[in-house]
Amino acid sequence: MSDRIDLAAFPHDFLWGTATAAYQIEGAVAEDGRAPSIWDTFSHTPGKVAGNDNGDVACDHYHRWREDISLMRELGTNAYRLSIAWPRVLPAGDGPVNPKGLAFYDELIDGLLEAGITPSITLYHWDLPQALQDRGGWPERDTALAFADYAAVVAERLGDRVTHWATLNEPLCSAWIGHLEGRMAPGLTDLTAAVRASYHLLLGHGLAVGAIRAAAPSAQVGLVTNLSTVHPATDRDEDVQAARRMDGHVNRWWLDPVHGRGFPSDMREVYGVELPEQQDDLATIEAPLDWLGLNYYMPATVANAPSAPAPHVRSVRRLGVPRTGMDWEVDPTGIETLLLRLTDEYGARRLYVTENGSAYPDVVRSDGRVDDPERRHYLERHLAACASAARKGAPLAGYFAWSLLDNFEWAYGYDKRFGLVHVDYRTQVRTIKGTGYRYADIIREHRGRVRHAA
Ligand code: IFM
Repeated sequence: MSDRIDLAAFPHDFLWGTATAAYQIEGAVAEDGRAPSIWDTFSHTPGKVAGNDNGDVACDHYHRWREDISLMRELGTNAYRLSIAWPRVLPAGDGPVNPKGLAFYDELIDGLLEAGITPSITLYHWDLPQALQDRGGWPERDTALAFADYAAVVAERLGDRVTHWATLNEPLCSAWIGHLEGRMAPGLTDLTAAVRASYHLLLGHGLAVGAIRAAAPSAQVGLVTNLSTVHPATDRDEDVQAARRMDGHVNRWWLDPVHGRGFPSDMREVYGVELPEQQDDLATIEAPLDWLGLNYYMPATVANAPSAPAPHVRSVRRLGVPRTGMDWEVDPTGIETLLLRLTDEYGARRLYVTENGSAYPDVVRSDGRVDDPERRHYLERHLAACASAARKGAPLAGYFAWSLLDNFEWAYGYDKRFGLVHVDYRTQVRTIKGTGYRYADIIREHRGRVRHAA
């Protein structure tokens, strides 16, 4: 695959964005009426997060958002994907709205629009109000209903100015990592709870699609999924079957139901857990979407592991391949494969890469600059692969680099830095990294082409 980015493959109105999530950057967790989320609880439980870090202050974006919009302008981006903190807007998860919580996003959206930056809102990026967790969380149907009510509140308030909406970010992580592997909030290791959570997340998604559209008729609504290409460790049948199960676990379980195919029957068998299905749920879950978001970071290589928890696979480390600071394999062909799979197999009509990026241990040089050639190379190679997918027919309408800022990387704490902008957590000084400047150049070059062609 060539590393040259064929910018002409991207449409003239391509969205060049960055992405963040509320809990990872906002801080101000106890301000203006915000109540705790499951991530406050999880991160304050000793031993759950590297260094016992938490999101109490994070990037202090709650107070510094104006400066952060200026950074987006410096990068030349024309879009910004942010998430709304449910516990800021509805501190108890349902019930009374917190006006100050909504006011924060109101101002932020106005600020973005004034700067010529299109906001793309994600309603749920993992910060479930703790009050709802106390009533059972995602394994319970009521959480899906509460999510739809919350979606309506936000869409009613912001839907006059915001057209890009996503319901959930990476439901896979909420369900599998949060309820089965226990590495993320709420930290459970319970297959039944995980499968029930996965079901209610998708039900909540479908209900929220309707709620957003009812409140904001011009809304363009989508779902953000993190998908992986999956390879068998060997060509032995048992490993090929393991790869098929892993594909079901990370890809098909999430894509099939929203595309009218129901929950994959092979995976239902693998999990062996009864779904809490009620009449008409599937019709809700498969509400047609305006777009689909792909978050792509790395491929998976797996072998059969019958005694491992469902889906009974173990990851196999491929040798001799480059890895990021997360120890994640770098494989740009995966992003192209997945964009084409969504196009060909699932009939996607509009796609965004809603996240893609890499963490490396950055060093601030004595002259104050942050030179990050590995991240830059990662960005270039993945953008080249996106362009190649677009050339082959993927209806790719935008790319959001993860992330605008270094931020709270969940269970990894502040150790892992994904930002295009370096954050000194002691002083909150922001410094655009080399990759940020390279991204700005790429965006400028694309704009130049568009102008030239006009
Ligand atoms: O930081 C996360 C983000 O919140 C969700 N997608 C993956 C990123 C990197 O791990």
